[in-house]
Amino acid sequence: MAAEALASDILIAPSVLPANFARLGEECVELERAGADRIHWDVMDGRFVPNLTFGPDIIASIRPLVSLPFEAHLMVQEPHELAPRYAEAGCELLIVHAEACPHLHRTLGAIRDLDMDAGVALNPGTPASAVAPVLDMCRLVLVMTVNPGWGGQHYIRSMETKITEVQNLISHSDHEVEVEVDGGVGPATIGGAAQAGAKVFVAGSAIFSDTDGYKAAIHKLRTAATTN
Ligand code: DX5
Ligand code: ZN
Repeated sequence: MAAEALASDILIAPSVLPANFARLGEECVELERAGADRIHWDVMDGRFVPNLTFGPDIIASIRPLVSLPFEAHLMVQEPHELAPRYAEAGCELLIVHAEACPHLHRTLGAIRDLDMDAGVALNPGTPASAVAPVLDMCRLVLVMTVNPGWGGQHYIRSMETKITEVQNLISHSDHEVEVEVDGGVGPATIGGAAQAGAKVFVAGSAIFSDTDGYKAAIHKLRTAATTN
């Protein structure tokens, strides 16, 4: 029973970074049918990270096709400037990098003023303590288990200590905050992240490269999160 309860706690947020962009809408519809809990948009501006990806207009064009919540992971230099555009595009949750926000508390407040939930992402080199002063503003903390910029990288297992540190900060606060991980998450790594305290898992390559299809890939992740 406990395992089933844990499985129902686990949320899978596919990153569409590896999707076939020529049929991005169909890909998102298939992910919804396959049992995904959220769509994770890896937004990159070519400055905070070298890669360039999804503008708000692309997300807005997909919005009417699926009912899943959209979370935008803003790997951008000036997230506060872009936040209104991603709100208009239909994102329910905006995740900004602590490293890109000299005024993090103000930026999170601006996101919430746009009627979106706010999240903070921490690069591998940023300590868990960076989010302690703003937990009251966050719906989630995203612990990066790779250095941002590309999909398909190797999971940095040493980040599991930070996952637990973030979970402990939350447990000792009065706030309900999700712990999410992003980068190199697959059947071989999700168990360690879950045991460390994560409940929400971004996965790109592990889903899009699975020859058994999206539904099987998502099921494998849920199973591995609760049994490994
Ligand atoms: C890194 C991106 C990736 C992506 C997931 O900037 O945030 O972590 O979402 O990619 P995979 O699951 O292929 O590592
Ligand atoms: Zn991401």
